[in-house]
Amino acid sequence: MSVTKAVIPAAGLGTRFLPATKASPKEMLPVVDKPAIQYVVEEAVRAGLTDVLMVTGRNKRPLEDHFDRAVELELALEAKGDAVRLEAVRHTNELAAVHYVRQGDAKGLGHAVLAAAQHVGDEPFAVLLGDDLIDHRDLLLEQMVAVQQEKGGSVIALMEVPHDQISLYGCAAVDGSGDVVRITGLVEKPPADEAPSDLAIIGRYVLAPSVFEVLRTIPPGRGGEYQLTDALQELIATEPVHGVVFRGRRYDTGDRLDYLKAVVRLAAERDDLGPPLLAWLREWLDSPSFPGQP
Ligand code: UTP
Repeated sequence: MSVTKAVIPAAGLGTRFLPATKASPKEMLPVVDKPAIQYVVEEAVRAGLTDVLMVTGRNKRPLEDHFDRAVELELALEAKGDAVRLEAVRHTNELAAVHYVRQGDAKGLGHAVLAAAQHVGDEPFAVLLGDDLIDHRDLLLEQMVAVQQEKGGSVIALMEVPHDQISLYGCAAVDGSGDVVRITGLVEKPPADEAPSDLAIIGRYVLAPSVFEVLRTIPPGRGGEYQLTDALQELIATEPVHGVVFRGRRYDTGDRLDYLKAVVRLAAERDDLGPPLLAWLREWLDSPSFPGQP
């Protein structure tokens, strides 16, 4: 069965980014001039997933508004003859069929994914975390969908991280090497000395609908939250679960430092902003006002 639906959980509390995320979801933080979640929806659409379900929590309004028409704004831009910005404003509501479901309490990623069960039905589907950016030049999701179609079951994106950082992630034990591996075990945020590998789960999944059955039965896990990792660990016993090892560019925009890196890097690579930004950065780096400069 082909994959046509994308689920984007965006109901987390975003505590690492307070107070910016007090009244607005972290998925709406601008990365250069687009909110993080727009990159994620564009990625899903590029991979052929035009049915998008967002799992929202408190502060869902800005998300819904962003993917809806903004008639007043369109009229004002039309009157000014500003065709470029008009196109940018319209683009977001024409991108995909975006649907919404509420998670209620933020009880963990597994709980958020379970909220999508009715919309998804009985077909494989993708999950893209709304604060995790994959560079548009790195075709991870396309590869994951192809692996799922070939091997069935579920597919999880993995990335090698420094050993001292594995305790921040879900971690996979795998069979084999190369870009596509069979996953033999999963554990959520293990202490570094107990981690079975340095392969971290990153925010892209293509899942079999059987995951919903497991999500309905698992108890709360680490941090008292319903963990998607725990459900996938159970699935391994009965179905194939593969990993696609990603070696490209990824930014966790829910983390302040990674967010800043994403903004600088993506702006530096743009034709309009890159040259003046890089010129200023070089000048600043060499100037006495740069922090740490003698
Ligand atoms: P995070 O692990 O980044 O959690 O969630 P968080 O609570 O949002 O952030 P911090 O740690 O407090 O700063 C990963 C993804 O899962 C979603 C988040 O919105 C994010 O896209 N999520 C998490 C939910 O949708 N619901 C939840 O209950 C938890």
